[in-house]
Amino acid sequence: MKTYFRIISYIKPYKRYVALSVASTIVFALLNGASVYLTIPLLSTLFQENGMEHTHSGNTNLNAHRTGQADTGIIPQWLSDFVNNISDSFNNFVFSGSTDEVLLKIVMLILLAYLGKNIFAYLQAYFLAYVEQGVIKDIRNDAYSHLHKLPMSYFKKEKTGNLISRITNDVNVVQQSISVVFLNLIREPLTIIVFLGIALSISPKLTLFSLIIVPVSVLIIVWIGLKLRKQSAVIQQKLADITSVLHETISGVKIVKAFGMEEYENKKFREQTEKFFRMFLKMVRIRNAASPITEFLSVVVGVVIVYYGGKLVLEEHAIKASEFMGFLLAIFQLMPPIKELGSINNRIQESSAAGDRIFEILDTKPNIFDKEDAIEINDFNDSIEYKNVYFKYEDSDELILEDINFKVRKGEVIAFVGSSGAGKSTLCDLLPRFYDPYKGAIYLDGVDIKNIKIKSLRKLMGIVTQETILFNETVRNNIAYGLEDYPLEKIIEAAKAANAHEFIMQLPEGYDTIIGERGSKLSGGQRQRISIARALLKNPPVMIFDEATSALDNESEVLVQEAIENLMVDRTTFVIAHRLSTIRNADRILVLEKGRIVQDGKHDELIADVNGIYKKLYELQFRDQQ
Ligand SMILES: Nc1ncnc2c1ncn2[C@@H]1O[C@H](COP(=O)(O)OP(=O)(O)OP(=O)(O)O)[C@@H](O)[C@H]1O
Ligand SMILES: [Mg+2]
Repeated sequence: MKTYFRIISYIKPYKRYVALSVASTIVFALLNGASVYLTIPLLSTLFQENGMEHTHSGNTNLNAHRTGQADTGIIPQWLSDFVNNISDSFNNFVFSGSTDEVLLKIVMLILLAYLGKNIFAYLQAYFLAYVEQGVIKDIRNDAYSHLHKLPMSYFKKEKTGNLISRITNDVNVVQQSISVVFLNLIREPLTIIVFLGIALSISPKLTLFSLIIVPVSVLIIVWIGLKLRKQSAVIQQKLADITSVLHETISGVKIVKAFGMEEYENKKFREQTEKFFRMFLKMVRIRNAASPITEFLSVVVGVVIVYYGGKLVLEEHAIKASEFMGFLLAIFQLMPPIKELGSINNRIQESSAAGDRIFEILDTKPNIFDKEDAIEINDFNDSIEYKNVYFKYEDSDELILEDINFKVRKGEVIAFVGSSGAGKSTLCDLLPRFYDPYKGAIYLDGVDIKNIKIKSLRKLMGIVTQETILFNETVRNNIAYGLEDYPLEKIIEAAKAANAHEFIMQLPEGYDTIIGERGSKLSGGQRQRISIARALLKNPPVMIFDEATSALDNESEVLVQEAIENLMVDRTTFVIAHRLSTIRNADRILVLEKGRIVQDGKHDELIADVNGIYKKLYELQFRDQQ
């Protein structure tokens, strides 16, 4: 329930539309009642019931009055007087003049009632949709912008698909809770009141009788409906399973082919579709049984009421035939809203569950954020220092970095080498505060980076990651990512320095070519050069560069190499090196082994230590690059 109220609180900015929707709903319900009520004078005229009576207009009300008192006395006197007054004036108005005139008046009134009713149904639906979609938009935006505040570790923990589905699908389910409030808590009760009022004004006795049998049949119908919903939820889940199998294999199609796993994947897929098929058939069985059962039950209700009411008309002359017909119509109008109310709890449960999944994102507190007194920095002047830095990932006990100490002066190129998993990427991720050290601290110009505003810290840094990350946009926007309205000449300049200009010009639309999801229309080397161009354009004083491990052919290798050299000119650079030429250019090399710095020096010095790890790494990784 708490979740539910929280969802509802999102309605606040749309108060005006809520009010409009509620007002339209009220008018709609009244006109809906009127449209049914008007059939009574219509039938009465057609049956010429009033032929002998309509001169004395209080007739109907006298009836109601009489039955009201005689039957049960459940209607307070003032209310029945009030109702009688209204219907008195109504009858006086309608039943004056010739039969022709009376008929015309009634038909016109019916026309007006239906016209008004439909206009207000439209308005009510529109205003409700406005509120619903507005709330969805707001929740989605909130969740999305909150995602951007969450640290890297959160994204490692949560599956991408899962997060996406929460912001798309779950948000849609939440929409239900809003319609529930309006339809189930306002429109349906209102409809029930109006039609119950009509029924009571005709015959309290018959109404009470109907109220005993109608709910029983409606409950059976609701129960079938619940089974149907449950089954359809299972089906949704199965469909999601199929989607995820598809997603996995399509994105990994190369591996499937390479390993000849087509048959295996086919089998996996067939199992899923078979399950879906069975589930769906089960739902079809329930659904197709539902409507005949519903119809039959309604007929049972109808027949019982007709029999009992018919006797009231024929034997006791308690009510007139036209009133009885009006009564039947009113009672049948009661069924759908009662049915709706029966499923209210289920809907609230469903949307609360979806709401929980969304609020879980919103309630995750970012653990990396600006301190209140964090300072803004604009440049980097002197040095970066790691002091006694230890690091471990959130939910593991294993220390990934231990006792890291080193200092880099402005303008130096420092290279990190070490075997895979040694902790090189992790060490560099600490500098832009993607993660914070577990112990120890990092100082930039003598200031602990935890005391610097994250935005201004990251502004000083250009980051080229191990996997190149590109967006499905134009080349131009990919290079100028984060820099709005950048002049094309500058972008071209950066692309030239990154050795990317030439191949970009050969793309079908040059700098305006869209490069596909994650840059899938480009080669590995081309992608790397675009991300280098991006870093060059930003032109930051500090560069963090995780060289891609993927091997490139000789030609691209040379081009990428030149691009990297341009990147390092006049910059303080942290580079995770996988290329011999890069380590040769470095001012200093730190060798990492199992999270510790084990060697520190220049290439020539390190290679001289024949028992050192560097020498072994060199033989393994770099020598054949000569
Ligand atoms: N999100 C994570 N949660 C837990 N452990 C992690 C996480 N990311 C990396 N690790 C572990 O941290 C260690 C260091 O990883 P890191 O990516 O820093 O290695 P690396 O030196 O960059 O290796 P490579 O040369 O292959 O890129 C590895 O043992 C890895 O398994
Ligand atoms: Mg790495």
